[in-house]
Amino acid sequence: MPERKPLISGNWKMHMNHLEAIQLIQKLSYALDHADYAATDVSIHPPFTNLRSAQTVIDADSIPIALGAQHCHWEESGAFTGEVSPAMLAKLAVSYVIAGHSERRQLFGETDENVNRRLKAILAAGMIPIMCCGETLDEREADQTETRITTQVDAGLAGLKRDQVGAMVIAYEPVWAIGTGHTATPADAQAGCALIRDRVRANFGADAAASVRVQYGGSVKPVNVAELMAQTDIDGALVGGASLEVDSFSRIVRFRLQ
Ligand code: PGA
Repeated sequence: MPERKPLISGNWKMHMNHLEAIQLIQKLSYALDHADYAATDVSIHPPFTNLRSAQTVIDADSIPIALGAQHCHWEESGAFTGEVSPAMLAKLAVSYVIAGHSERRQLFGETDENVNRRLKAILAAGMIPIMCCGETLDEREADQTETRITTQVDAGLAGLKRDQVGAMVIAYEPVWAIGTGHTATPADAQAGCALIRDRVRANFGADAAASVRVQYGGSVKPVNVAELMAQTDIDGALVGGASLEVDSFSRIVRFRLQ
């Protein structure tokens, strides 16, 4: 079984202007060292307006933090007011792009079908998608968790190649755990991540299932990260609130020491 290097990603959502972003990246670079980056991949996903400044500071100081985006459109260019294309992100040295975050699904009408188009466009532009999936509280209470995750994974990844899926990231983010302080128990988080890997195995084979990285997201903090990361099928974390502060995010990256 291939070694899956953990990936800890900070989803800044609509927080931080570009000056605050530069400060936070510089503070992170002081807090983390080469041993941290050797053990764990780290990505940050600031708002679009910060990407150029973030790229400049990361480049100038050779900081081994990967730049990520939170969203993109699937077309390369055109009359799509307010949207940003994968090619534009790739040009800014963005490596990871989140697709299908539950906030985008709930507030901005993203569907499994257009998440799938986004994934294809992100891959075609040479970047790595982080596809989010997860059930709402209502779905969980109605015993629909498995169905929901299965549908989102099957439809989101439809038509992708085995090696593309094997190299991507899928985040299990139960909607009821996001920004609520109610983290899933390690067992529930493991069950969701294992189900995602099972779907990848069923659709794309054992090699893709063994190498795809599955993150857990939803109220990850320094106090709960180690137990979550100890689960067999959890290869990383997608962190919202706790990624906005240097101390909490660097402690999450150093989950082995918690
Ligand atoms: P949270 O957000 O860590 O603030 O719960 C996670 C996410 O939405 O990716």
